[in-house]
Amino acid sequence: MAKAPPARGDHRLRRYLHGPLAVWERLGLRARVTGLFAFGALLLSVLMGGLSFYATSHFLVSDQINAAIKEAFVGRATVEQRLLVPTPNELTVVADLTAATGATTSILYYRGTAYSSNSFTVSISDVPEPLRALVRAGTPATQTFVLGNRPQVAVGVPLPSLDARYFVIFDLGDLDHTLHVLALALVLGGLITTLLGGLVGRVASGRTLRPLSAVSRAAVAIARGDLDTRLRATTGDPDLRGLTQSFNTMVDQLQDRIERDARFTSDVSHELRSPLTTIANTLNVLEAHADELSPRARRALELLGADLRRFERMVAELLEISRSDTGSADTSLEVVDAGELIRQSVAAGMRTLPTPVSSPTISIDPVLDEVTLAVDKRRFERVMANLLENAALYAGGATRVAAEPGPDRLGHPTLVVAVEDHGPGVPLAERRRIFERFYRGQAAGRRGASTGTGLGLALVAEHVRLLGGLVGIEDAPSGGARFTVELPLTDGEEPS
Ligand SMILES: Nc1ncnc2c1ncn2[C@@H]1O[C@H](COP(=O)(O)OP(=O)(O)O)[C@@H](O)[C@H]1O
Ligand SMILES: [Mg+2]
Repeated sequence: MAKAPPARGDHRLRRYLHGPLAVWERLGLRARVTGLFAFGALLLSVLMGGLSFYATSHFLVSDQINAAIKEAFVGRATVEQRLLVPTPNELTVVADLTAATGATTSILYYRGTAYSSNSFTVSISDVPEPLRALVRAGTPATQTFVLGNRPQVAVGVPLPSLDARYFVIFDLGDLDHTLHVLALALVLGGLITTLLGGLVGRVASGRTLRPLSAVSRAAVAIARGDLDTRLRATTGDPDLRGLTQSFNTMVDQLQDRIERDARFTSDVSHELRSPLTTIANTLNVLEAHADELSPRARRALELLGADLRRFERMVAELLEISRSDTGSADTSLEVVDAGELIRQSVAAGMRTLPTPVSSPTISIDPVLDEVTLAVDKRRFERVMANLLENAALYAGGATRVAAEPGPDRLGHPTLVVAVEDHGPGVPLAERRRIFERFYRGQAAGRRGASTGTGLGLALVAEHVRLLGGLVGIEDAPSGGARFTVELPLTDGEEPS
């Protein structure tokens, strides 16, 4: 069935939200929970703050206006009483009136003159015209207005019997100030609440995610080859018990499987060894009588011999590699001088070469003659022998072996050993793969094809890994290949 097309509005909304959504989704879980908590707290404080501000200001302002209205009516009564009794001067009346409080101004408009109790600050012309017009027409009225930045409320009442009008003006400035302070306090409170909300979110999500970081740490350890890593059973939390159990079961099964595979390789190589020995012995006998054979049979015997030796070698290398796979490879650390270690390993490697080539120049940083390191010497010799053999097979021999101290990517002290040659080098596309088991590159097709097994560099990588180091390949400065081995310089302590 055809899927219904998305509604137009939905589509547009999605496009509009695309950017923010993408950013939101790219954030970590923890950041998102923190953000949501903070947003919730903000929303809540805006709502509560807004409501309380509205209620308070409404109450206070209407309270003030009511007071002003009351005062206006009381004032009017007084004025009426006084003016109806004949007095020598209306001004005395007004003077009496001015006993008002500081925040209030009374204005009496009587027979064309306005008398203000506080004429310096407020005069009749400050009272808004619409209010004056209403009162002139005989209606009592109220109006708020602003005078010199301060909000005011004016109440006007007519005195029809005397053709007078009476105004009371209340200064709301103090109230306004109070409300400003209140608003500021509410905003500050809201900000603090938001921050606290975010903090609570962060702490809470941290607690929730803690088991996940344990899982991720365990996964990293397992990926590094530490197959004995397990998650600690958290008995307390029923939500996490399942995760812990299934994770540990998965690792159990993985470990079983890896060990079974490794054991299989090791068993196969072992099983092959004894028939191989028999075949090799038989071949030796035949080779001793080679001159009695016809040229064709002799040629066949030679081919058989070459392949058998390659086979033997493959079995030996497979055994060597499976030993580190099954974890049965024993490491014996020896404290040695770095310079001496390299010289000896090169010499030993050159002795085992199948075809003689000229020796490489050895340049060792003098600093290294002062440096000792704890290393499995046999492993390191195997690494050098394999690199020298490859150089001999594919590049006519190593030209230079260089060693120098250097910090690695993390700044730890390391020993960097490089084996360089003048051969064809390793094409970029092959560099990652040459360390794989049974992988043989282009160079192997050109020369020495029959002797290689494709396991040499895999063994190198395995040995270097067990030595705690890193192996790499790059172009030699003079063309050709440059294989590097970086070993940690732990100076007599166990490499971890
Ligand atoms: N010094 C070198 N120069 C050029 N290519 C090399 C060199 N060393 C190794 N290689 C390439 O790396 C491949 C893998 O090497 P290795 O694992 O020792 O297997 P093998 O030597 O048995 O072929 C080789 O087949 C070859 O193509
Ligand atoms: Mg090789």
